[in-house]
Amino acid sequence: MIKSTTKSANETLELGKKLGTKLISGDLLLLFGDLGAGKTCLTQGICLGAGLDSGTYIRSPTFTLINEYPANTPIFHIDLYRLENKADISNLGLEEIIYSKAITIIEWSEKLKLEKNPNDFMFGIQERLEIHISSKNETTREFNFLPLHMTPRTPPLFPLL
Ligand SMILES: Nc1ncnc2c1ncn2[C@@H]1O[C@H](COP(=O)(O)OP(=O)(O)OP(=O)(O)O)[C@@H](O)[C@H]1O
Ligand SMILES: [Mg+2]
Repeated sequence: MIKSTTKSANETLELGKKLGTKLISGDLLLLFGDLGAGKTCLTQGICLGAGLDSGTYIRSPTFTLINEYPANTPIFHIDLYRLENKADISNLGLEEIIYSKAITIIEWSEKLKLEKNPNDFMFGIQERLEIHISSKNETTREFNFLPLHMTPRTPPLFPLL
């Protein structure tokens, strides 16, 4: 488990940028954390770090559910907040995205957990970077990074520099 603390939205953006530079084709990022934790803010940084044009406005996919950004490696930014049940999630076409060459970032990944076994996720997801975010106060956020079943890479994903 790798931990980072930020004290402003801008620091979270910078943290996201650092992570974004390390991502490669096929990476799957599962974001966990309450409303306003900073999932979208972190994602905005990740997209910039991953090479998305800084003129691109990265908006929350709260209503669109899936936003796709063309970058060197395409990025899919997904928000499951509004989806009520597994059937709705199954109908999104997520499986194809997750197992594509794109970078996939999913807010409210809690919703992908199987009820029978909360250690398991829908679509047989194994290889992933889990990012658990908690709000310590109005402006302090703690990020816990948990890479699972990920193939080692050069340079390594962590530490973020
Ligand atoms: N350290 C911080 N990091 C990120 N955001 C912060 C921080 N401190 C304060 N904020 C504020 O918290 C809010 C984070 O909003 P953001 O949309 O990123 O959250 P979210 O986790 O995506 O929420 P939602 O579940 O609604 O999608 C912003 O208003 C931001 O300005
Ligand atoms: Mg959000």
